[in-house]
Amino acid sequence: MRIAIIGTGYVGLTTGVCLAYVGHEVQCLDTDTAKIAALKSGRTPIYEPFLEELLADAAPRIRFTTSYEEAIPGADVVFIAVGTPPSPGGGPDLQYLRLASQSIGAHLDHEFTVVVNKSTVPIGSGNWVDSLIREAYETAKGKRPAGCFSVASNPEFLREGSGLHDSLYPDRVVVGSDDPKSLDTLYALYRPMLDQSFTAPTYLPRPEALAAVPLIATDLASAELIKYAANAFLALKISYINEISQLAERVGADIAQVAKGIGLDARIGMRFLHAGIGWGGSCFGKDTAALVSTAAEYSLDMPIVKAAREVNRRQRDVVVEKLLSALRILKGRTIGLLGLAFKPNTDDLREAPAIEIAKKLIERGCKVRVHDPVAMERFRREYPGIDVILCDSPEKVAENADAVVLVTEWPQYSDLDWEAIAKTMRTPILLDGRNVLDAARLRGIGFRYIGMGTVEPAAHLDVLVKA
Ligand code: UGA
Repeated sequence: MRIAIIGTGYVGLTTGVCLAYVGHEVQCLDTDTAKIAALKSGRTPIYEPFLEELLADAAPRIRFTTSYEEAIPGADVVFIAVGTPPSPGGGPDLQYLRLASQSIGAHLDHEFTVVVNKSTVPIGSGNWVDSLIREAYETAKGKRPAGCFSVASNPEFLREGSGLHDSLYPDRVVVGSDDPKSLDTLYALYRPMLDQSFTAPTYLPRPEALAAVPLIATDLASAELIKYAANAFLALKISYINEISQLAERVGADIAQVAKGIGLDARIGMRFLHAGIGWGGSCFGKDTAALVSTAAEYSLDMPIVKAAREVNRRQRDVVVEKLLSALRILKGRTIGLLGLAFKPNTDDLREAPAIEIAKKLIERGCKVRVHDPVAMERFRREYPGIDVILCDSPEKVAENADAVVLVTEWPQYSDLDWEAIAKTMRTPILLDGRNVLDAARLRGIGFRYIGMGTVEPAAHLDVLVKA
């Protein structure tokens, strides 16, 4: 099939490369000429593991352009995957969606094209996109579209950092449209993923248990709501375990054991029960806010989703409170932060906990040193106003620091020579914001290890007092 993808951000590019890899002819369009030039030469503008490899493997079937005239005519499916960033008023800024829809309408030229909303858009946007395309088509062609297109929703469930894996091996594919012909087209498009009939790349092996992927075909509004309901549920699952982690600390319980104990109940499930600093990234914050505000338009309150947001906000304060309680005075202290990206395997800094935590510490008079394996350059570009010291290694972050906080659980941070690091710190205090480090080993080395919802053994505190 011939596919056009508008927008080469995380979602658009990942979708385009995966669809080309499984055999479709794909044109990726972006209005950013620098991005397109980079992609044409095989370089990807975002950090996503194996994206460049998959792009090289898909190269015969993928092209990049800045021209709607080149991408749209003849396309069987057009994906809209443009950004919908938060606007100053809180709701999503839909200007790019409007522009993309109008440009698609002005260039449609095929027997039948399905226009798919892949961006996370407010519920009801499908109808709006339909009317924008219709108007632009009529203006450009001087006639009605007469059944030559239809709008569908195909929400994206990929996680940054494992976007290619999630696209090639999804748990399910959701397609929503009020037009059965669109659903048929999308079924044919996703057939290689649904049947898992493509040859898996060696660097992205197929999960052993995966045989076939279910397709959920719904009406337009249901597909749009599925996206928000899924993200809000994941966000509240994390907030729930974080809330329980607060109580765990107070009663002397260990949150990892509690999470395992509840997660092995198949009705609850183990995933997204990892307690820590809380969720960041561009999706959970934006989507939970949008859900609350959409509900408000219908005079509906959403206390559960609101509470998940509040608990998440509180987790950032917990980090500062823990440092305060360990150090007594924060003013004049040097704090090292390991990790800037909102999660490992990405350079995305949107709503990254590290940024909020750094700001809070600076406000309290701390000197903040930071390191990230891939997001430093981006941080330098996008946050020049935040007065932190960028260090080129995790060891430098710890040098003469009063405490180090592990903010992003990059795997390489677990393998550091912590023994050597402890010797270079002013006080060996380690706050493991993601509960991923080996607490017993670190305590053995002499660290005061502080977790999020974990028990601090009294015996260890005695040793510290004696020292
Ligand atoms: C999320 C969803 O997981 C995807 O299904 C969805 O497609 C995507 O949003 C989107 O709407 O585009 P993403 O934000 O990329 O994906 O990353 P996640 O892996 O979900 O992590 C989000 C945040 O939650 C991270 O800051 C992570 O550290 C945190 N998290 C995750 C926890 O604190 N605990 C957990 O147990 C899991």
